[in-house]
Amino acid sequence: MADTDGFKEASDFGFGKAVTQTGFHVKGASNADWGMKDRLSRIFNPKTGRTVMLAFDHGFIMGPTSGLERIDLNIVPLTEYADCLMCTRGILRTSIPPQVNKPVCLRSDAGSTILTELNRNVLIDIEDAIRCNASAMAVMFSAGDGEQEAITAANLTKAADLGNRYGIPVMGVTAVGKQMARDARYFALASRVCAENGASIVKTYYCDGFEKIAASCPVPVVIAGGKKLPEPEALELCYRAINDGACGVDMGRNVFQSDAPIAMIQAVHAVVHDGLNPQQACQLYEDLKHELHAAD
Ligand code: 5RP
Repeated sequence: MADTDGFKEASDFGFGKAVTQTGFHVKGASNADWGMKDRLSRIFNPKTGRTVMLAFDHGFIMGPTSGLERIDLNIVPLTEYADCLMCTRGILRTSIPPQVNKPVCLRSDAGSTILTELNRNVLIDIEDAIRCNASAMAVMFSAGDGEQEAITAANLTKAADLGNRYGIPVMGVTAVGKQMARDARYFALASRVCAENGASIVKTYYCDGFEKIAASCPVPVVIAGGKKLPEPEALELCYRAINDGACGVDMGRNVFQSDAPIAMIQAVHAVVHDGLNPQQACQLYEDLKHELHAAD
C-alpha cells in the first residue's frame, strides 16, 4: 500500500500563467518526433490549437445505441464538420468512406460490454491501427476500478510504447471507476496518470473545478459530452470547458442524438474555434436548424 498519510492536496496550479511551449501548438508535444507532430496537427487545428472530435465509438460497448443505428445515414453527413473522427476499426472500414479524408482517432482497445463489467479490455494490433492510417489511438484508463485499473494501465502503457515506435499519439480515455466520485480530484488524478504513462491527449469529463484538471495535465485535455442534454446546456458545457482550459471536445451523443445534428456540430465548432458564447452558439444552432428544416 502506498503511503498516502502525508498526501498533500495539490493547490498551486499557476492559473493565468501560460505554459512554456516552444514552437508547437499542441501542449506537451514540443519535443515529439515529426510523425507524431504531424498527426497531432491533423487533430488540433494549428490556428486555434483546438479540436472538435466526433465520437461514435459507443457501439463497441453498447451495441446500436440511438443515433448510431445507421452510420451511413446519421454520421457520414456530419463528418465534414468534424476535425477528427473517433470510432472503432469495424465502423471505420464498413461505414466511413475513405474519401471523407479526416484524421481518425481509432478506438484501439476492446473487450467487455455494458452486459458485464466494463474495461476488461485488450489492445488491438497496432499494425491494424497503421493500416487504418490512425492519427491517434484511443485507449481506456479506469483509475481506482479494482482489477480493471491494472488491465487498462497496462493497455495504455503498451499503446504508448507502440505509438512512440510508430509516431502515433495515444489518447487516454478516463473511464469512471464504479465507486469513484466524478469530481475534479478524481479526474485530475486519472488524467495526470494517463499523461504520465505516455498519453499525448487525454479525454475526460467536465466537472466543477475542471480548471485544475486542465492545468495539472501536461497534455491537451478534451471533454466527452456525456449523456444527451438539451442543446443549450450542451453548448454551455462546451463553452465552460474551453473557458476552463480544455483544448476541445470529443463529443458523441450530444451531437448525433440532437434534434438537428448538423446544426449542433457546427454550433459546437463555433464555440471551440471561434469563441462564441453559449447564447451566440444557441442562436447559431437555432438558425442553422431552421435553415436545414426549411431546405427539407
Ligand atoms: C466511451 C467513449 C465515448 O466516445 C465518449 O463517452 C464520448 O461520447 P459522449 O459525448 O457521448 O459521452 O469514449 O468510452
